[in-house]
Amino acid sequence: MDHFTYRDGELFAEQVAASEIAAQFDTPCYVYSRATLERHYKAYDEALANHPHLICYAVKANSNLGVLNVLARLGAGFDIVSIGELERVLAAGGEPSRIIFSGVGKQAHEMRRALEVGIHCFNIESEAELERLQQVAAEMGVRAPISLRVNPDVDAHTHPYISTGLKENKFGIDFKVAPRVYRHAATLANIEICGVDCHIGSQLTELDPFLDALDRLLALIDELKQDGIQIKHLDLGGGLGVSYQGEQPPQPADYASAVLARLGQRDLQLILEPGRSIAANAGILLTRVEYLKENSGKHFAIVDAAMNDLIRPALYRAWQEIIAVKPRSDGEPRSYDLVGPICETGDFIGKERELVLSPGDLLAVRSAGAYGFTMSSNYNSRNRAAEVMVDGDQLHLVRHRETFAQQIANESLLPD
Ligand code: LLP
Repeated sequence: MDHFTYRDGELFAEQVAASEIAAQFDTPCYVYSRATLERHYKAYDEALANHPHLICYAVKANSNLGVLNVLARLGAGFDIVSIGELERVLAAGGEPSRIIFSGVGKQAHEMRRALEVGIHCFNIESEAELERLQQVAAEMGVRAPISLRVNPDVDAHTHPYISTGLKENKFGIDFKVAPRVYRHAATLANIEICGVDCHIGSQLTELDPFLDALDRLLALIDELKQDGIQIKHLDLGGGLGVSYQGEQPPQPADYASAVLARLGQRDLQLILEPGRSIAANAGILLTRVEYLKENSGKHFAIVDAAMNDLIRPALYRAWQEIIAVKPRSDGEPRSYDLVGPICETGDFIGKERELVLSPGDLLAVRSAGAYGFTMSSNYNSRNRAAEVMVDGDQLHLVRHRETFAQQIANESLLPD
């Protein structure tokens, strides 16, 4: 459930009419609902209320400071993959001791900064990274808390949605060699083993792959215990899917109870890194129809949002629902391809959508709160969109629309 609903024939974000937001801040414009973000975070937090846990929101899904701040105020943890994400979390009031640092390519300066502020744990993805962290921590005279990100090689044939938990992927350490790497880590003076981690993929719509991975991780934890290595937390990553087009992914409560049932008597803090399931349906992208056009019987609506604003349709052929802000009843619906102004055939937001449209109409692209603005760019020298947070009947501009001066601020001409 989210807080984007129709009232008196027009779309509202919480208590504010979407048309009012477009009138104030223009389009294209991302609109987030605070109540929806909070609801999605709390669904995880409450599902695990009776078990030690940390919900580390995956910052990559939506890293706007306003979004991070809403979650920080609820006591959320954060999953980061770069120094930029770390600084954003700190700037948004996030607690350093609740930060998990993931990613395959951590640089020494990023490790240093993370150790300086005292993050909860590094998710280590290779032996070479472990050695580098040992060196950085030794130079600083501290101990670095770590998990190994284990690649559980969950069978792709039975679970086709998985894309990062297979042995041919670049992510993690093969679960068969993980015990050896843990034993080695235990000998390193400036490394403190805390947890075991995995992340098997994104937009998963069934629980079985998570539970298969969990079984492998639990077997590893039991094996390590016999070697005298005590694991304190289990991090299952992110990946729970959302409904874009009628999918019915498990709810956080179903996921949590299935996981807790398998933990048994083990004394493990549970960490999750959800991104999409918190942010996607807490956001829409507002866009306006510029032109209607027909080419050889095919109808196009050219809108003012483009692949630089929302790349998921172009990049993954992802389907996101597109709805009229004020649905019309004064015409026959027609099948439109909704395309942006960018000079590429792949620049579309949606294809073959039945809509009644006129130039100037406002549309909302749903499920745009995750991997929307964060994947945007300046392609075709387009300024990046504004971002607005709705909170009840209040509107907060959480990112100004980029100006041309800002777009070129880091560039220069050649000297005379
Ligand atoms: N943890 C790690 C280590 C990850 O790599 C990811 C996402 C997450 C957590 C969060 O996963 P989520 O709960 O959001 O599924 N750009 C793509 C999605 C890429 C996901 C990358 N990793 C898209 O727009 O569909």
